[in-house]
Amino acid sequence: MRVPSRVRLFEVGPRDGLQNEATPVPTATKIALVDRLAAAGLPVIEAGAFVAPKWVPLMADSAAVFAGIQRRQGVRYTALTPNMQGYQAAKAARVDEVAVFGAATESFTRRNLNCSLAESLARFAPVAAAARADGIPVRGYISCVLVCPYEGEVGPEAVAEVARRLFAMGCYEISLGDTIGVGTPGKTEALIAAVAAHVPVAQLAVHFHDTYGQALANILAALQQGVATIDSSVAGLGGCPYAPGASGNVASEDVLYLLNGLGIATGVDLDGLVDAGAFICAALGRDPASRVARALQAKRGAGKAPAPPS
Ligand code: HMG
Ligand code: MG
Repeated sequence: MRVPSRVRLFEVGPRDGLQNEATPVPTATKIALVDRLAAAGLPVIEAGAFVAPKWVPLMADSAAVFAGIQRRQGVRYTALTPNMQGYQAAKAARVDEVAVFGAATESFTRRNLNCSLAESLARFAPVAAAARADGIPVRGYISCVLVCPYEGEVGPEAVAEVARRLFAMGCYEISLGDTIGVGTPGKTEALIAAVAAHVPVAQLAVHFHDTYGQALANILAALQQGVATIDSSVAGLGGCPYAPGASGNVASEDVLYLLNGLGIATGVDLDGLVDAGAFICAALGRDPASRVARALQAKRGAGKAPAPPS
């Protein structure tokens, strides 16, 4: 199977995973989660979002999270920055990398950013320029790359156009988000082919939510097209406040198990990742959505492997 020999796992759990929680998560818990994820070897951790607290209250303590984490050498700690106000706050918090986040449709952009698609790109341009001047890498997200919860099916060309504009603006990487987790591998393949006509595959990442259980199949399709950065969330935490019914991101443990099985290097330790997931799930009072985490925890608990299916 032709897949990259090395993949960068981009951990979004502390941001995408926690932004939608119904009850506040203590800042100390977030800090401990980020530190555990870094200890497990994750090279990039999205630790917060500098967004309007009245829109996403769970991210209001992002500056305190960045102030409290123990920064490990070699780990990039990143955050969302929708506008200059967010960018200035992120810079003051010594964020290593920022991200602007647009969408392929007008309706989702309105719900998520309270402006039109054209206005969103106009707001991102000064963020990208300021970050470039400050030597801070900028990532560009695109939501609703396959289906929009408000507009339905999204054509690959619409996504490719937004990707082209974000890349031209100076985003070093474009993360393609299946925000509501409905994509399937054939559509994923067509999407990546269309976007790759404008942005090199090496500069693309995929970001799957797992609502319909297709995320790993979609990731495999993306790997086979040469995509080598995968967004995921420890324990499969998450959901988007502006995408009703969307479930969490694909679980980091499940992605890592897939990559390990394919012999793809990541530098991430599966046991450490499962521990980080167990920590945050205990804090939230729920079981991990990750099948791999549940299987490994059962194995640890029983002291032996579960019986193979008969
Ligand atoms: P707005 O209300 O139009 O902004 O929101 P405004 O400029 O009119 O300002 C209103 C108030 O917000 C003011 O405060 C500003 O100071 C404040 P007030 O005077 O009322 O007290 N404000 C801010 N505060 C802190 N940080 C800021 C900031 N900007 C303004 N940066 C805005 C526009 C973009 C700010 C708002 O819509 C917003 O914050 N949206 C964020 C939405 C969000 O975080 N969504 C979830 C993340 S995206 C996602 O999950 C998808 C992804 O995972 C990929 C995928 O799955 O597809 C990335
Ligand atoms: Mg997301």
